[in-house]
Amino acid sequence: MLLEVKNLTVRYGAVVALKDVSFGVDEGEIIALIGPNGAGKSTALKAVSGLLKASDGTIDDGEIFFEGKNIKDLRTDQLVTEGLSLVPEGRRVFSTMTVLENLEMGAFTRNDKAAVKNDVENVLAFFSPLKERLYQKAGTLSTGEQQMLAIGRALMLKPKLLLADEPSLGLSPNYVELIFDKFTEINKNGTSILLVEQNAVEALRIAHRAYVFDIGHIVMHDTGKNLAANEEVRRTFLGQRD
Ligand SMILES: Nc1ncnc2c1ncn2[C@@H]1O[C@H](COP(=O)(O)OP(=O)(O)OP(=O)(O)O)[C@@H](O)[C@H]1O
Ligand SMILES: [Mg+2]
Repeated sequence: MLLEVKNLTVRYGAVVALKDVSFGVDEGEIIALIGPNGAGKSTALKAVSGLLKASDGTIDDGEIFFEGKNIKDLRTDQLVTEGLSLVPEGRRVFSTMTVLENLEMGAFTRNDKAAVKNDVENVLAFFSPLKERLYQKAGTLSTGEQQMLAIGRALMLKPKLLLADEPSLGLSPNYVELIFDKFTEINKNGTSILLVEQNAVEALRIAHRAYVFDIGHIVMHDTGKNLAANEEVRRTFLGQRD
């Protein structure tokens, strides 16, 4: 297994946000974490991406393995070296920097200039609308374009596992579909993906497997296809009553 989260318990002071949660990502998979507000999805992703720690008192128990190595105590920059990169919730592009500068920032850990230039070109070929906006400040891009840039910046780090928190939030329907199609393409090119989403319809459309979170627990786990067809899931998350 590429990523293995075992018996994770996370607390924010007195609030237990995750209790004894286990999930994993196999090499080549797209995995979605779905569930209602406050279920603990972002908390799970933050623990994996090094934003929460045992040392800051949030990770109370459990282990996180990446390619068999315990990564629970690694910093975000160390995780990048291991092959994990995060597309943060709300995109967090550097709004006063240009599109090009944002992409180059994505590769801040690398000093192979020619290869970085080549990777920028690959990202621009992949997200072609960004090509015409290369010298435009990122803050002036539309939400959908900013999401492309945020994903592109994460791809500059050449991750083995791409982590994304609510990538569809605030995007127009056309962009939502485009972004999810791009995740499928990124995955086909060899990158595994762990996705947190409230848009269960789209997430289950592309996910090989998904875990359903509710109040700090995983309440269901199955293939994307089975969950999309599951009556209870449809009633609760897909807004369909039949
Ligand atoms: N920094 C924090 N301090 C205190 N409590 C927090 C903090 N972050 C999250 N929580 C609480 O932990 C629980 C899980 O939150 P989390 O953000 O992981 O949920 P989520 O499933 O991502 O929800 P959403 O769909 O709204 O993004 C919630 O009860 C939330 O209020
Ligand atoms: Mg969240």
